[in-house]
Amino acid sequence: MPRFAPHPERRPAVVSGASSGIGAATARALAAAGHPVALGARRARVCAELAAEIREAGGEAFAHALDVADSDSVTAFAAAAERALGDIEIVVSSAGDLAADRVHELDSGEFLAQLQVHLVGAHRLVSHLVPGMVARRRGDVVFVSSDVVRAPRTRMGAYVAAKNGVEGMARAMQMELEGTGVRASIVRPGPTSTNMGMGWDAETTGAVLEEWVKWGLARHPCFLRPADVAAAITAVVSAPRGAHLSLVEVQPEAPLEER
Ligand SMILES: NC(=O)c1ccc[n+]([C@@H]2O[C@H](COP(=O)([O-])OP(=O)(O)OC[C@H]3O[C@@H](n4cnc5c(N)ncnc54)[C@H](OP(=O)(O)O)[C@@H]3O)[C@@H](O)[C@H]2O)c1
Repeated sequence: MPRFAPHPERRPAVVSGASSGIGAATARALAAAGHPVALGARRARVCAELAAEIREAGGEAFAHALDVADSDSVTAFAAAAERALGDIEIVVSSAGDLAADRVHELDSGEFLAQLQVHLVGAHRLVSHLVPGMVARRRGDVVFVSSDVVRAPRTRMGAYVAAKNGVEGMARAMQMELEGTGVRASIVRPGPTSTNMGMGWDAETTGAVLEEWVKWGLARHPCFLRPADVAAAITAVVSAPRGAHLSLVEVQPEAPLEER
């Protein structure tokens, strides 16, 4: 008798922050791996366009507006996703944004906004979708964290605090969910080429990069592609039952040295 029944054939997934970057790449990758996917972000039209692209490629996809900072929006998104795709087996929490301010210069409202999106936003998804997983005795929740938890970066203290909160919550969940069949996992990307930080002016970007160099945080110029992180997330949720990839850090590989 195997310790666990295999994953069901149909494993619908929801992805927050699916209109861009890592979330969009994850929706594509999960759909290509055969998962029905529900895409959510504030830019519902962008999610709808991506969902149409996935369907044209033969996948199953559904899009709905989602603001993870708004409880009613998360309630509506989760209910619509389940109506459209059935019981949700996989949750990927990737929604996020980034303010490039020093902690002491940041307005507390803006500080709270970062916690609202990254930390409370992730919790809102969990509170709606994990109880059903526990009842079904299986499921995957993936928190997209950041390598800033291991090595904090300057000018993003609110983000560092929020991501530490996310990992703390995930670690506690891993203990609370032990024996339920539900796996909570952390995927921790290093620098990834997405829209994050693209709204900064050139002066801010220059200053941030200089500080990364000063603190030894820019070892080489390569960034990950969103698809690289999506591949790690897909690997985490595809691990056979009985094995749990609880924490995966993904870093860009350095360019090959001249010989
Ligand atoms: N890029 C990096 O170097 C890096 C490194 C480590 C970790 N990460 C993490 O990776 C995740 C994805 O970021 P990304 O790099 O892919 O950035 P991105 O391209 O800017 O994508 C961020 C996504 O989050 C969504 N979003 C923002 N606020 C939201 C809200 N209130 N409700 C719902 N969706 C919201 C955005 O969509 P809308 O604007 O349409 O809502 C967008 O789809 C984040 O959690 C980030 O912290 C990124």
